[in-house]
Amino acid sequence: MENKSSNVVWHCATVTRERREKLHNHKSAILWFTGLSGAGKSTLAHALEEHLHQRGCSTYVFDGDNVRHGLCGDLGFSEDDRVENIRRIGEMAKLFCDAGILALTAFISPFRADRRKVRDLAGGDFIEVFCDCSLDVCESRDVKGLYKKARDGEIPNFTGISSPYETPESPELTLNTGEQPLEECVQQITAYLESRGILLV
Ligand code: ADX
Repeated sequence: MENKSSNVVWHCATVTRERREKLHNHKSAILWFTGLSGAGKSTLAHALEEHLHQRGCSTYVFDGDNVRHGLCGDLGFSEDDRVENIRRIGEMAKLFCDAGILALTAFISPFRADRRKVRDLAGGDFIEVFCDCSLDVCESRDVKGLYKKARDGEIPNFTGISSPYETPESPELTLNTGEQPLEECVQQITAYLESRGILLV
């Protein structure tokens, strides 16, 4: 992206990320949930947040549908708009990381290149969580009734139907959200965060 801001100078905070992490008693990170619509990204992100909150962690969930009501309300589902959606969320998640928070993001984020950009932006803080649920299962759930509309030609560029989803090649975590119980998925992620020293045991 071309940067149009000139004459801007980065101001360093005296309250650093390390000091915030110390205060929060855990490290910050970006947990990037990716998968088809209806794969269970938001459900899992919110269940994980509930668990982490009860453990006393500072968390925030960025949810695709929610963010598109405000911050990204000007964006649709063309390829360019999806790229911009993910770019904004990546930048936002990075700021939350700097704020000492565990940022959980639940976006289809269908393109590998965009997820790669966020990974590069976030350094070692990016944890890709692939919510692996088949199109058949997502479509049979059809919680929002959108797959039916997409099949009927009422929604163009619908991921999995008329727009591609590029599966992650080497995600930190892959969860079978089509079959694995929710609590088990939460457990698997927290065990991973503990093994990385992000959460204290
Ligand atoms: S992303 O592709 O830019 O990452 P995002 O996660 O923000 O997508 O939004 C996905 C949600 O928007 C879906 O869960 C669904 O509710 C809704 N939606 C509306 N139109 C589409 C579409 N064409 N493709 C996919 N999801 C859509």
